[in-house]
Amino acid sequence: MSVSRLLCIALLAITLIGALWIRSRPVATPRATPPTTVSAAATPDDDQPSDVADGSSFRPVASVASLMAGIGSAFGQLSKAVPPSEEEHRLGAIATWSEVLAELSNVNTRHGLEPDYFEMAVDTRVIALELARAARAETPDEARITTLFADLDNSCGACHDVY
Ligand code: HEC
Repeated sequence: MSVSRLLCIALLAITLIGALWIRSRPVATPRATPPTTVSAAATPDDDQPSDVADGSSFRPVASVASLMAGIGSAFGQLSKAVPPSEEEHRLGAIATWSEVLAELSNVNTRHGLEPDYFEMAVDTRVIALELARAARAETPDEARITTLFADLDNSCGACHDVY
């Protein structure tokens, strides 16, 4: 067999092996369905926060107790601001702390694997946002602010009665 013939066979073999190798590599396919279930609550020592933009994989990084410390603190600020007073930034404070509470409650929705926990966390979030809106209204309705604050308080109790 001539040298050129050997070279030719070797080249063919290399091409063939190369083609087979490329075909055998796993092809990356995007996940067909994004996870829709609420992920399990993170433990405080879980140092893997979700840093992807996909909201479906969002996971809290702190314990429920710590989250509640924040919710309780925001609620405390609200209870100081809600009673009508001459305080200059009172309505702004109500709006801000209600939104803080709404966002923390939004995180709380990810702590419950049970549907009723999720729904009660959503209730608190919805009421807190309504309270923020009421405080930002052009002509704030004080009676509505008082009622919404009482509703908010009851929404905390509803969950604490069960969990
Ligand atoms: C959907 C459920 C849920 C809602 C709504 C909720 N909480 Fe909680 N809260 C919990 C759970 C569960 C605990 C117990 C946490 C633990 O100790 O592990 C708790 C505990 C607390 C604590 C004690 C924290 C500690 O030191 O352990 C405070 C304060 C608190 N909540 C405030 C509030 C306030 C104020 C609201 C309403 C604005 C509220 N929570 C709404 C579930 C809820």
